[in-house]
Amino acid sequence: MNIGFFDSGIGGLSVLREALAVLPNENYLYYADQDNTPYGTKTRNEVKKLAFKAVEFLTSRRIKALVIACNAATSASVEDLRKKYDFPIIGMEPAVKPAVTKSLNGGKRVLVLSTALTLREVKFQDLVARVDTGHIVDMIAAPKLVEFAERFVFEGAVVEAYLRELLPLERITCYGTIVLGCTHFPFFRKVLSRILPDDIDIIDGNRGTINHLHDVLKSENLLNTSSEKGHVLFFRSGVPVEDPAVIEKYNKLLKS
Ligand code: DGL
Repeated sequence: MNIGFFDSGIGGLSVLREALAVLPNENYLYYADQDNTPYGTKTRNEVKKLAFKAVEFLTSRRIKALVIACNAATSASVEDLRKKYDFPIIGMEPAVKPAVTKSLNGGKRVLVLSTALTLREVKFQDLVARVDTGHIVDMIAAPKLVEFAERFVFEGAVVEAYLRELLPLERITCYGTIVLGCTHFPFFRKVLSRILPDDIDIIDGNRGTINHLHDVLKSENLLNTSSEKGHVLFFRSGVPVEDPAVIEKYNKLLKS
């Protein structure tokens, strides 16, 4: 049986990339809802509907577990999806807790970069209220990074100009950690490292999420015991992706 992954687009590939490293023998179905990207600027209800549609499609192809490889879709739908389906459902959550611990030690602040939907949702607000005891967490939406990523533009003058405007040097020296709270953003790690001061850590929750997936599959006896390498099938909003050029682009990101 497969493990289903879904995201509004290609962002979830940054999570699948970790899954392939930790659980290479599993078979994966990756649903990129690219007919409806972006999610981050939509309402909670719109995204919830799209998430249910994606999961209905994935279940029709038989899945034993689901990774909602999207922070926005997790905020909008994880609780309701768990009420409907009884297979394990793993969601994304910005890695605020480790960032706070790290930054408090260094006397610095934390900046969460995400999308508008994730940042305004109760799930995130509750998380910050719980872990940000020192009131050191700030947040900012970076919707254009999602647009750039969907066009496979991960560096260059336009991306750098946007990031420099969003994160001007004089405003960011107070930060010890930047949390990538959108799964599209890890693809910008290289350019971020280049423009940010060296002492700012950039973290995401992808590996933690996949370690959690591993533990859940193990405890529920769902790990694939085959010693053969698994495969990944891609779908765009429910339609199999067959164009070799597109598949090649996806695979390149999985190997990046
Ligand atoms: N990749 C998604 C996330 O982690 C959302 C991007 C979007 O479609 O706005 O939130």
